[in-house]
Amino acid sequence: MYIENLSLNNYRNYENFSTGFTPGINLIIGKNAVGKTNLLEAIYFLENGRSHRTRNHQELIKWHEEFLHVKASVKRADRDLVVDAMVEKSGGRRLKVNGVLQKGFSGRARPVQTVMFTPDHLKIVKEMPEYRRAYLDEILEKIKADYTYWRQHYGKVLRQRNLLLKKVGAGRMKPDMIDCWDVQLVEAGVKIIKYRNEAVATIAEHATEIYSQISDSAERFSLKYENQLVGEDGSVEGLQERFEEGLRAKRRAEIERGQSLLGPHRDDIGMFLGGIDMRIYGSQGEQRSVALALKITEHGIITEKIKEYPVLLLDDVMSELDIKRREALLKYIKNGTQVLITSTNVEYFKEQELYEYNVISVK
Ligand SMILES: Nc1ncnc2c1ncn2[C@@H]1O[C@H](COP(=O)(O)OP(=O)(O)OP(=O)(O)O)[C@@H](O)[C@H]1O
Ligand SMILES: [Mg+2]
Repeated sequence: MYIENLSLNNYRNYENFSTGFTPGINLIIGKNAVGKTNLLEAIYFLENGRSHRTRNHQELIKWHEEFLHVKASVKRADRDLVVDAMVEKSGGRRLKVNGVLQKGFSGRARPVQTVMFTPDHLKIVKEMPEYRRAYLDEILEKIKADYTYWRQHYGKVLRQRNLLLKKVGAGRMKPDMIDCWDVQLVEAGVKIIKYRNEAVATIAEHATEIYSQISDSAERFSLKYENQLVGEDGSVEGLQERFEEGLRAKRRAEIERGQSLLGPHRDDIGMFLGGIDMRIYGSQGEQRSVALALKITEHGIITEKIKEYPVLLLDDVMSELDIKRREALLKYIKNGTQVLITSTNVEYFKEQELYEYNVISVK
């Protein structure tokens, strides 16, 4: 699929802006703070109903204005779409596809599909487990229709349960009140764990291969879903019973700590190169290769799911990748994917490339 046209009205620093894109590689060039990231963010917003940078939709409205509009024409394999989103200062959002108002706006419609890669994604490898869970969740939300529901539900149950554990700990509630929250925690938790377990296996298959292509390391890259309840061999048999048993065993500790100690909110993904833990011991270059392999993998998995190439949004990543990794990335994306690359500097690209690409300069 590709985005043919994008127009912004009162979106961040843009009052009125419109640009066309070509189906191949588009370079968005401009100095710092001209609005390059804002452009990609607007596209991400059309897909997900939220920004990748903030949870507060009102922040996206140009200062002192009452509403924003983002509109795009999208060519998909089997249809042409006009996508039109609006946010009001009151926080109200609405999305129209070909003039038809969509129910809700939580990204369920996904009239355009993207994979975004920014320097922040290096955190997937080197920072806390929550960044790895977010990577996993973002993929699962795009490939499993009910994943968003279960993830949000689990979050709510977890918050309520933690609140209750604290009250029980303070003697203000009876411990048997926790039982009914356990049932819900296990129900949602089991769904999430099974989905994640399966997803990590799929991601690992792709990423091992891609890593070997983009680096010249002879070591094998591998991933492992790290969950307290999933067996070493990745088996999820008897998961529900183990979860229930685990909660019973940990109840006293949970009340003491006022926290839920068991469940997918404590998940991690192990990332190893020849058995060495890249999260801890990876060099900068190795960690960058891992992040790149994971993002290329995400693109591949979404492609398999939707049977066409999602748009690749690369924000400022050229400065983060060295020549070899840049070339590996460009080689991978020369396969019919539309790519929007932002950069402050054209020097990252060869003259021939600049000639082939659609260059858009933002001022
Ligand atoms: N709601 C808003 N209203 C008006 N301007 C805004 C709003 N939100 C952000 N901006 C401004 O938009 C400008 C451009 O931001 P953006 O992040 O897109 O820059 P950029 O071109 O990606 O820069 P860099 O190369 O440094 O990453 C910033 O100067 C920021 O202050
Ligand atoms: Mg930027």
